[in-house]
This record gives sequence, structure tokens and C-alpha cells, in this order.
Amino acid sequence: MELTAYQQQMLDGAYGKGKAMALQILVAVGESFDAQRLVPISRAHVSLSAQEADIWFAEKLQRAGAVCAVPPTVNPGYSLAYFGSRISSEAVANMEAAHRIYGELGAVLTYSCTPYLADNIPRYGETVAFSETSATIYVNSVLGARTNRESAASALCAAVTGFVPEYGMLLAENRRADVVVEVRDSLHGEHDFSLLGLMGKMIGKGVPVFTGLPRNTGVEALINLGTQLNVSGSCDLFHAVGITPGADTLEQALGGGEPKRHVVLTRDDLHQEAERFSPPLDGPPEFVILGCPHYTYPQAVRAADILAGRRTRIPVWILTSGTVQALARRTGLEQRLLEGGVELVTDTCVDQACCWGHLAGKPGVTDSPKCTYYMGAFGVQATVKPMEDCLRMACEEGVG
Ligand code: F3S
Repeated sequence: MELTAYQQQMLDGAYGKGKAMALQILVAVGESFDAQRLVPISRAHVSLSAQEADIWFAEKLQRAGAVCAVPPTVNPGYSLAYFGSRISSEAVANMEAAHRIYGELGAVLTYSCTPYLADNIPRYGETVAFSETSATIYVNSVLGARTNRESAASALCAAVTGFVPEYGMLLAENRRADVVVEVRDSLHGEHDFSLLGLMGKMIGKGVPVFTGLPRNTGVEALINLGTQLNVSGSCDLFHAVGITPGADTLEQALGGGEPKRHVVLTRDDLHQEAERFSPPLDGPPEFVILGCPHYTYPQAVRAADILAGRRTRIPVWILTSGTVQALARRTGLEQRLLEGGVELVTDTCVDQACCWGHLAGKPGVTDSPKCTYYMGAFGVQATVKPMEDCLRMACEEGVG
């Protein structure tokens, strides 16, 4: 790989041991992908987890004196203010360590998996280093920025040095659609887009371009589509004709090339996925968890509107960003939700066993297939329903 004089000096330690270590890792990543060079980034997002391996790596860089050249936003760990004494002292120590170490590295401690909505919004064509499955595909597809699916470690190295190896999604030739996905039936609501995203295996490898999606498809629907597509099919980028940048027409999305596959999806396909992810519960639901990825403000408003003055009989949590919570406090939305029995929880991810492990073995409901994937790892079996059904069940069927 060819390095500039500045990059070579950094590798040789002229800017400190921490930057040298980070650059060494990026060069190794680049060489394994046959990258020709390192290119500058203007933004980064690190999927901090506050778990031991993550802390170990970040601390190694911090002890070596690294400070981020491009301050990254960070993924959720967990809210000590919310969970307080309900979590172990070890978990508290881990979160405090992550907070301190990432702070000293110069990160912007947003603790949200939807940085692209408020705090770290790439523009079209910008080269960035984002980790987090739901974020990478959104910034590539909906915003038209360029990022590979970085790991927490490689995104942090990119933030420290200001560079990423140029390969994969950073190169125009790899961003052309090569699989046409014709959606035959009209989709209604955000939940349908989660189900569409679960078709990753049917769609197969490549860059899909969807046809037949409504032109007024909303932000939340596109977040759901990308999130589940990345979980079900390890997809970095999708196009949607008439919706995403560079896909005004099918021909434009294909970039003059021929597709290698044409996949047709119908409502029956979506129904099959819905059934697979919505097994009957063993008993009445005992909890509802929403907000994987973190809910937007309009989603939280919709939840309050659906409740329409009713009160849930079981705990209902909405995971969201601190930005959304601040707004919800200002507008009275958080109070409306609380009166309905719904709590906003910030800074937290569903994959934190220390926070949610007590739900293991209890029947629950969520609107996110990704949530079931992560919570299933520590024994929480939730069934997937649209938000409206989750909240209706919480009010009518839940056992308090
Ligand atoms: Fe966000 Fe965690 Fe879900 S990072 S997308 S809440 S698995």
C-alpha cells in the first residue's frame, strides 16, 4: 500500500505511539483487502459497547497517548442514571471506564446508534468511517455517503488517525446495483419495511436496488429496511428507485450494467417472515421493548398517540437518544408517555445482558427483529409485532 509522507511519518511514530498503533492496524486491514492507499475521513462513528474487549482495545490506544483527529460519535453503552443499583458493580465499573477512556480519546459521547439523525450527519459523497450495522447501511444508502462496515476497533483507529483504507464501499465501481428486487405488493407502514429487510437471504449477495417502493417512504421505514437487511444479509448498501441518491431510475442505479439477478418479492414472502419472527407467546406478555435502532422523535410521538390516554399493564421501554429525550422533555412528550406507562431509556442498547438479562424466560414483545437476535443471545425470547400491536398488547393482554 502506498502511503503519503505524512502517513509514513505517523506510522513511524512521529505523532506518537497511539497514532502509530492505529495506523499500523489500518494498513494491515487495507492490505488484507488489497487497498492501494489510505484516504482522509471527515466523520466517524464508533460502535462502543462498554464490554470488556471494547474497553481493552480503547484503553490500549488511550494509554499510548492517542487522541482522535476526527472526534467520533459513539454507540450506546448503558445508562447508569437509569439502571443505577439494578446492575452489578462490575457492569457499573465497565460503563464508567468506557465513559472515561472514550472521553479522553476525544470522542463525542452521544451513546446512540442513530447518530445520522442529529449529531453526526454525513452529506452525499462524504468519505466516513462508521461502525454499527444499522448506521453504516443508512449513511451509504439513504445519505449517499461512503463507508465500509467498520468494526468498533477499525472505526476508532480511523478516528484517531483521520484515515481509512480505500476499498469496498469507498470505490464507485462497488456501489453500482447488481441485484434487482421487484416488490410486487404495496408496503404499508414501517413494520412492512422491517419484514422486507428480512429478505436478505432471498436477495443474496450483491448491491440490491428495490423497485416498487412508494416514493414517499419515510426515514423510519428506510432505517428499518437497512437495519434488517444488514442483519439478514450482511448488506452494506441498497438503492431504492425514486428514493435514494443516485437511483432516480433503475438504469441509473445499475450504472449502465446488467443485473446478475432479478428477485420478485410479494406479500406472501413478507407474511412468511412475519410468521417466523412472531411465534406465539408462552403466556401473556410481561414486557415490551421498542427502539432498536433508537426511536426517532416522530416514532415516540406515534407511540403516545397510539396509547391515546390508555395505560399499559406491563413495563414498556422505548430506547432512544439523549437528543430525542431532551426534546421529549421540553415538549411534554416524555410526561405523556410516562402517564401511559412507557419509559424513555437513553444511552442503552438491547444487547446489554447486564441491563436486560432479568427478562430471560419471560414472554415479551418488540417491533424489531434485530432486537430478538441480540436479546436471544442471553435467553430473552420476544415475539415481533408492529408498534401498534405491541402497545395494544401492553394495554390489553399484559400481566402486571
Ligand atoms: Fe441500536 Fe443496539 Fe439495536 S445499537 S440498533 S439498540 S442492537
